[in-house]
Amino acid sequence: MVRAFAPGKCILFGEHAVVYGHPAVAIAIEQGVNVSIEKFEEWVINGKKFERSRHPHISHILYDLFEYKGAPLKIKIESGLFPAAGLGSSAALSNAMGAALHKLIKPQEKLDLVKLAKIGHSAEAAAQEGRASPTDTATSALGGCIVVSEKKVNGTKHVFDAELMTPEGKRNWIISKAKLPEKVEDLWLILGFTGESSSTGKMVSDVANLLTHEPDKVDLMNNIKEITYKGLKSLALGDFGAVGIAMNECHEQLRDLGVSSNSLDRLVEATKPYSLGAKMTGAGGGGCMVALSRNPQRVSEQIEIAGGTPMVSKLVSEGVRLV
Ligand code: PMV
Repeated sequence: MVRAFAPGKCILFGEHAVVYGHPAVAIAIEQGVNVSIEKFEEWVINGKKFERSRHPHISHILYDLFEYKGAPLKIKIESGLFPAAGLGSSAALSNAMGAALHKLIKPQEKLDLVKLAKIGHSAEAAAQEGRASPTDTATSALGGCIVVSEKKVNGTKHVFDAELMTPEGKRNWIISKAKLPEKVEDLWLILGFTGESSSTGKMVSDVANLLTHEPDKVDLMNNIKEITYKGLKSLALGDFGAVGIAMNECHEQLRDLGVSSNSLDRLVEATKPYSLGAKMTGAGGGGCMVALSRNPQRVSEQIEIAGGTPMVSKLVSEGVRLV
């Protein structure tokens, strides 16, 4: 049997603004998706018959990317992520599946993280009508803190370039790693799930409508861009107080953009007194918020009191790996 794990992610800065060409900063979290596969007498996934149409990510990886023609497989998927909550569970699934299949087919060959990130991105695009940013898959594959942008961002280390032919034309991204200080053991990311799932597509289209009807709101995008650069600089310096302030500011801009929700605002406000900073993360309209804190127990309690479900992750987590 072969087994691989790929982490989920949360966006620290730049959600929505990244759709308009500005950078986004995402960070891998401790929790993610485990995939195990073994040869078997029939095709089975989590104890049920494997049907291609019900598992688009897995089918694309098996048949289009690996051109798998071997024996039937028994596939087991175990996720430690809240579903449809902006934590990149489908990207983690794609990366873990890609890594496990690679190990099964080419056991002597070392895992190539960039190749896996590209496989994962291709699987996301195939499952989402050709529209997918490489943010989730790159962060889950490479681990650490990842910057996705159209232009090179100073102070980051270039890792690879991604491109995708979308229904709207060709899109290109630069994927880089942001530097994080080595000593971060006493810092935690605390995710708070509102219990409400949300559609990224709908939130992105709501923002597009808002900008059409109220063009002045484009200022909010520019503000998010400035906050993202400030946040990145503070991260590299290890000035986590400033990182937290940038997170609070980012939340305010996203709220003014109309993508927060009452429950997200409630969780953010409840955690702020015990955090360096807190904000919604991802597309919004539900899903999760994230707080940066040295007191994960207290922040988790606050999330529960405010009606959410907490999950604690260390600040620096590795990317996809065989387990
Ligand atoms: O909630 P998520 O992880 O799917 O984040 C979406 C981030 C957006 O910027 C809103 C959309 C995108 O494609 O980058």
